[in-house]
Order: sequence, then structure tokens, then C-alpha cells
Amino acid sequence: MQLQPDEEAILAGEAGETRQQMIEILIALGKVFSADRLVPIQSAQVSGASYKTIGEAGLEWLTMLDARVSVPTVLNPVGMDRVRWREMKINSDFAKKQEEVINAYARLGIKLECTCTPYYIYQTRFGDHLAWSESSAVAYANSVIGARTNREGGPSALAAAIIGKTPEYGLHRVEDRKPQVVLNIDGATGWNETALYGALGYYVGSEVGDKIPYLQGVRPKRNHLKALGAAMAASGAVALFHVEGITPEARIFEYDVSGLEVIMVEPEEVLALMNTIPVDAVALGCPHCSAEELTEIAGLLEGRRVTRPLYIFAARKVIEASADAVACIERHGGRVYADTCMVVSPALEQYGAIMVNSGKAFAYVPNMCGAAVRIGTTEACIDIATGGT
Ligand code: F3S
Repeated sequence: MQLQPDEEAILAGEAGETRQQMIEILIALGKVFSADRLVPIQSAQVSGASYKTIGEAGLEWLTMLDARVSVPTVLNPVGMDRVRWREMKINSDFAKKQEEVINAYARLGIKLECTCTPYYIYQTRFGDHLAWSESSAVAYANSVIGARTNREGGPSALAAAIIGKTPEYGLHRVEDRKPQVVLNIDGATGWNETALYGALGYYVGSEVGDKIPYLQGVRPKRNHLKALGAAMAASGAVALFHVEGITPEARIFEYDVSGLEVIMVEPEEVLALMNTIPVDAVALGCPHCSAEELTEIAGLLEGRRVTRPLYIFAARKVIEASADAVACIERHGGRVYADTCMVVSPALEQYGAIMVNSGKAFAYVPNMCGAAVRIGTTEACIDIATGGT
């Protein structure tokens, strides 16, 4: 790799031991993936923020670091709402450890916005280089915004945040962003519900693994694209997808996909994922809700009363900007939590079966919460939360 003089100096230890270690991580990655150089990034998003996932070893590593981040950096969701953790029935030993993890990140200059939807908080533009690590945020940034990020691990995202650069390989290179497989979905152009796109993403991700899919035959809106990408990233390892006529690079580059493998998708196969098992609780906001989604949930709750626990997750800034919708949800018995989510918090481990409207949650809840999972539309989720069967 070609290093600039300032990068050589960091590598020689002139900017301290932590920065030296961090640039070593980036160079090692760059060598493995044949990057020629490091490129400056606009922002970073660091996973490995919940004490539930990083444990004592991760916390110890973080507390040894001594440097500040060089670009705006946010955290992935942590294990609890930093304000309402008692209400979530988080035990105080866990809360204490989680606070230590948060403080260790704060000491590095990371903003305590703990969210998988940083694009609702910081302006992210087409062509920006980023170092984001949460899989749904990566899929959204690459596909819906047209920014460029590989799916970073927690340590490599943190290293990029501290150095302000990342090795230029993979999805940072235009030539590596072309479609690799076509998904032709028949009879789904009228789909207008987040859960359908979540289920479609779950189905497509299992079919394509880590290839770059090019979807034909669907007309998703922004929230649908978020659900689609999150689910494909969870059931497969999709970090970039294109939707014909919809996503920015599909529109700009008008890819010729004539020579690619084509997978035909029958909507019935996707709809078959929508099971009807009985559930104990309902959880929405995977990825974290947008303001528009909070308003939709509030509208669906009008005139009803929550009788099964209803958890909703969103970024704190989005919650603050949606005060009316959030007040309405809470008045009707739902709870809107910041900083955390249904998967990284231990709060939902008390339930045997959980209903979601997200293909990503559908993929993760069984392993991460030890619960059975049911996926349905947002409307069906609210029906169940308010006493429906
Ligand atoms: Fe976000 Fe947690 Fe889902 S990090 S994408 S809400 S699993």
C-alpha cells in the first residue's frame, strides 16, 4: 500500500501507541484485500456497543485505548435505554457494565447517539466514503444513498474513526459495485407494506448470500428499502443492492444485466413466511423507526389500548423530533425506547414468542432473544398488541 507521509508517521508511533495500533489494523486489512491506499471518510459507525455482545474482554480492550476519533462517529445500539433502563427491567449489574462501555466510547470522542439509522441524524451523501459497521445501516448507505462503505467489524470501524480513513477496496471502488445476480419478482409492484419487503429481503438474502442483487418487479419506497436491505443483510450478507428504476446507482448507471444469473421469485413463497403463531409481545423498530413510521404506529393505536407489551425502538433524536407521535403511542400503552433494540438488549429475553414487522428481526430474534418469532404487517402487529389473536 502507498502511504502518505502523515500516515507513515502514525505508523512509526509518532502520534501515540493507540493511533499506531489503529493504522496497523487498517493497513493489515488493506493488504488482505489488495487496497492501494487509504481514503478519507466522512463518518464512522461503530458496532460492538452492547455489553451483551462484547462482554468483559471487549470492555477491557476499549478502556486501554487512548486517542480521539477524527470524524463524526456514532455507536450502534447498546443494551438498554440510557435513561429508562429500569423500566425495561434491565438488572443493575448489566446497567453498570453497559455504562462503563458507553463511557469508554465517550472518552474516545464518539457521540452517544446509539443507533443503526445514523442516516436520519447526519447528512450522508451520494459518493461519500464511510466506515459503518451495522449491516442494515451499511446496506442503506450503499444502496439507498449511494454512499460507499464496506461492512466493517467493530475494531476496523473504530480504527477508521480514529485515523479518519479506511482502506480503499470492495464497495469503495465503483467497479466492485455492479450487480451480480438478478431477482425477478413477479406480481409485487403493488406491495406497499414494510413487512412484505422485510419478508422479501429475508427470502432474497437466503438465496444470494453476499452477492450484489439487482431486483426487478418491485416499487419500494424509502422505508421499504430500509426493511428490504436490513433483511437481506441478515439472512444473507448483502451490503449493497440495486432496485431497477429506484435506487440511485441503478438509475444513473442503467446497468446491463442481460448476462447475469436470474432467480425468479414467486410472491407466494415470500408470503408463506408470514406465520400465525401465538405471541407474548410485539416489537417494532428494526432497523430503528423513522419519524414517519412512529407517526404511522401512533395512528394505528388511536382508539385502542395495548394489552400485550409493545416495544418500539428509534434513535433518541428521532424520538425527540416526533414528540406528538411518541406521546400518543405511550398514552395508548406502547413504549418507545432509545439507544437500544430488541436484539442487543436483554429486555426481550423474558418472552417465549415475539411478533415483528421486520425481516431482519425475523432472522435474529430466535438466536439472540431465544424466542420464537412471527412476522406480520405493522397493522397486524398493532392488532396483536391491542388484544387481537
Ligand atoms: Fe438495528 Fe438492532 Fe435491528 S441494531 S437493524 S434494531 S437488530
